Order: sequence, then structure tokens, then C-alpha cells
Amino acid sequence: MKVAFFGDIVGKTGRKKFKSSLQKYVSDEKVDFVVANAENATAGAGLSANHAEDLLKMSIDCITLGDHAYDNKEIIPFLEHTKQVVRPVNYSNDSPGQGSQVFLVNNKKILVIQVLGRVFMKKKFLDPFPFLEDIFFEYKLGLNVDCIIVDVHAEATSEKMAIGHFCDGKASLVIGTHTHVPTGDARILDKGTAYQSDAGMSGDYNSIIGMDKAEPMRRFLKNQTSGRFTPANGEATLCGVSVELNENGTANKIKVIRIGGVLGCTG
Ligand SMILES: [Fe+2]
Ligand SMILES: [Fe+2]
Repeated sequence: MKVAFFGDIVGKTGRKKFKSSLQKYVSDEKVDFVVANAENATAGAGLSANHAEDLLKMSIDCITLGDHAYDNKEIIPFLEHTKQVVRPVNYSNDSPGQGSQVFLVNNKKILVIQVLGRVFMKKKFLDPFPFLEDIFFEYKLGLNVDCIIVDVHAEATSEKMAIGHFCDGKASLVIGTHTHVPTGDARILDKGTAYQSDAGMSGDYNSIIGMDKAEPMRRFLKNQTSGRFTPANGEATLCGVSVELNENGTANKIKVIRIGGVLGCTG
């Protein structure tokens, strides 16, 4: 089985690139299951119900969210009737939606979980480790589930690595999101979990983490704010990883994905 995960979709350019490229990638690479983080897919902040529906028509099987999960309020009623959008499990005790979800693909069970980190994050979130412990108590890789993907939505690479090692041997893939910059540390951990600290974003890299450069530059250089951030609109690069699984659900191979845009095609 082969799964692919794409980092934070930023704005219209990210959505457009999925529409033009994802189906070909999935069929060329024979990918069985695709997860994409879409917390910034609608105007850079949150995800509207319409955009969620559009993305789910584009060979994306599961969408994960993040600290911007509820920035677009339209997603809240949508989360009540979809099983394909996963919000962070430790956002708060009464968050709308599900923090983990099981998918059935070709008779194989795939569990997708999202956790939020707490280091350097603006909002206060619950401790992710007990949530993961509870989920791994119920779902045992290779026994009652064939693949487990954990999206670690966090700022600090140290915290992401700690979660990666905590999940080692219990998950197929632990993949970071949120920082919008792909890290160069894709590898398989000691007990067989594929890991990368950040998948990177799926957006325009001629930008500051996906946003048009003018407003962040004004804030950094002049300490002035003249409006909200807007997504940059040049061609997007889709960034992520694909993982080939062993029979027992651990990772056999992790490969970096780059499709189009200024980061070019490698991997
Ligand atoms: Fe985020
Ligand atoms: Fe993000």
C-alpha cells in the first residue's frame, strides 16, 4: 500500500495546483490514499465548506486542519456530516468534528490522527500525548488497523521529533505541518515509522510562508500593519511525502514529493 501526504494548502493557487496535478500524480505513482492539510486553503485562513467539497473531489481522501481549523465558521456545520475532515484531537474538549478517523481503502483500514503541538503556539491546546496514548491503546498497527498517519501540527521541530519518537513503531507515518517550509529530514525511525518534521506547504513559494510578501515585510521592517495577510498567487508547488508500507503497516520507504512551482520537481 502507498499513501501520500501534502502539507498546508495555501489559498486559491494551492487549490488550483491540486486540481491540475493531483490526479495524474496519484495514477502515475499508484497512490492508494491521499491526505492533505487544508487549514489555510480558503484565503489563507481556515477552510470553507465549498472548498472542502472541491478538494475532496480532487483525489484527496482525507483533509486535516490545524490551529486555523475554525477560522472559517462555515466548516463547523460541515464537520458534523463529513468523516473526511479531521481536526486536531487536542484542540479543546468540546471542539466540533473528529480528531481521528478510520477510512476503509481496498479492504485495508487507515487511521488518520491530527495533534497540535503546544511549544511557541499562540493558543493554548491540550497535552497531545495522553490523546495519542488512548488512540494507540485502541488501534494497534498491523493488528486491527493497516496504516496509521499522524499529522503533527506544531511550530517546534523538537516537539515534532518527540511526538515522532513517541509514535515510533505504532504509526506508519508521522508528518509535521504548520511551518509551511519543508524540512530535509525524511527518514524511517528505529521501529519503522516514516517521519519528516514538516511536509512544507502546497502554495506559492515566492512569498513569505505562502503569503504575499508586502504585508509581512512591512510588519518586520517598519513595525506597521496596514491590513491582513493575503495569499501569494504565483504558481504553487505541492509539497509532501509518499510512503510505501510493509504488510505490518510500518514504512518500507519514504519519498519527498515536489510538484511544480519554484521548488521544481525532485524526489
Ligand atoms: Fe497552523
Ligand atoms: Fe498552515
